[in-house]
Amino acid sequence: TVYRASTTAPVNIAVVKYWGKRDAKLNLPTNSSISVTLSQADLRTLTTASCSTIFTSDSLTLNGEDSDISGARTQACFRELRARRAALEEKDASLPKLAALPLKIVSENNFPTAAGLASSAAGFAALVQAIANLYQLPDSPSELSKFARQGSGSACRSLFGGYVAWRMGEKEDGSDSLADLVAPASHWPSMRALILVASAAKKGVSSSSGMQQTVASSGLFQERIKTIVPANMDLMEDAIKNHDFEKFAEVTMRDSNSFHACCADTYPPIYYMNDTSRAAVRAVEAINAKAGKTIAAYTFDAGPNCVVYYLDENKDAVLGGFADALKAVSGFEQGAVAAVAGVID
Ligand code: DP6
Repeated sequence: TVYRASTTAPVNIAVVKYWGKRDAKLNLPTNSSISVTLSQADLRTLTTASCSTIFTSDSLTLNGEDSDISGARTQACFRELRARRAALEEKDASLPKLAALPLKIVSENNFPTAAGLASSAAGFAALVQAIANLYQLPDSPSELSKFARQGSGSACRSLFGGYVAWRMGEKEDGSDSLADLVAPASHWPSMRALILVASAAKKGVSSSSGMQQTVASSGLFQERIKTIVPANMDLMEDAIKNHDFEKFAEVTMRDSNSFHACCADTYPPIYYMNDTSRAAVRAVEAINAKAGKTIAAYTFDAGPNCVVYYLDENKDAVLGGFADALKAVSGFEQGAVAAVAGVID
C-alpha cells in the first residue's frame, strides 16, 4: 500500500519583518512579525507526501529534481511529525503504522525559487501540512506552525491564511514561538498585492546567513528589535483591526526600510535592493503624492523584488501609476513579471 496526501501552501509577504534568530537550531526569532497570505494562483507550492514499505528511504524532489534531505531543517520537520504520528499509533493500535515507513515528498513551486519570493515559506508550510494530512494529525495550525518554523522561520506564517502574526515567544525550547491569526482574509477582502519581479535570479546572500551576520554586527539592529519592531507590531495589528490602510501602509514601508537599513548597517554590508527596487519605491511615492494620500505601500524581502500592497478600489491609480513609472525603469522592462494577488484564507 502507498498512503498519500497532497496539499498546497500559499506564499506570505511580511509587513513587519522577521530578521534575526536568537536560536539558529530551533529557528527562534529575535522579534515577532506579521504577514499577509497571498492568493495568487501562481505563488504556491504543491506538495504530495506518501509513505510505503515499497520506498527504501526518505526522499524529497523539488521541481522534478532530487533535493538534499540530510539538512537539519528538513530532518527536524520529519522527526517532529513522525513523533506526533507515533504517539497517535501508540494510543490507538488499530491505526496503520505509518511513522515507521519511509517518506516520499514531491514538491512543485510555480514561481522562482529563492529569488526573494518567500519560496521557502510556502515550501516548508506545504511539506508540514502534507505530512500532517498523511498522518491525519489532529494538531491545530498553530501547533503545526511550530514544526514549519523549524524548516524555515517565515514558513510558520503560511499555515494560516489572511493576516498572520508569528509571536516570537520567550521559552528556550520554542514551545511558545508560533503563528496565530490576526484576522481572516474576509476581514479586509479588498487588500491586493502587486508583485514586481526585478530579478528571478537566486539571491546572493541567503536570509539565514544574512540575518546571522546582521545579528552579529549591526548596532542599529539592536534598536530595531528593542523598540522599532515592538512598536510596529502594535501599530500594524491596530491598523489591520481598524481597516486603516494609511497606517498599514506607513508601517509596512517604514518596517521594510528599517530592515534594509539594518542590512546596510551589517558589516560587511548586505544590499538586497537594487536600482530597480529603488525606482519602485519612487513610483509608489509618486502614486501617493498624486492621490494626495497613501494608497500604495512597498515592501522588499531578502531580494530586489517589490511587493506593493493597495486596496482594490484604488487599482486604477496604482496599476496605472506603475505602468507609467516603470516604462522609464530598465530592470522591470526586461522580463519583469507582474502579478496581482488577493488575500486568501
Ligand atoms: C526577509 O524565513 O527565509 O523574508 O528562518 O532562515 O529560513 P529562515 O529565514 P526565512 O527569512 C525570511 C526573511 C524575510 C522577512 C520575513 O519573511 O518576515
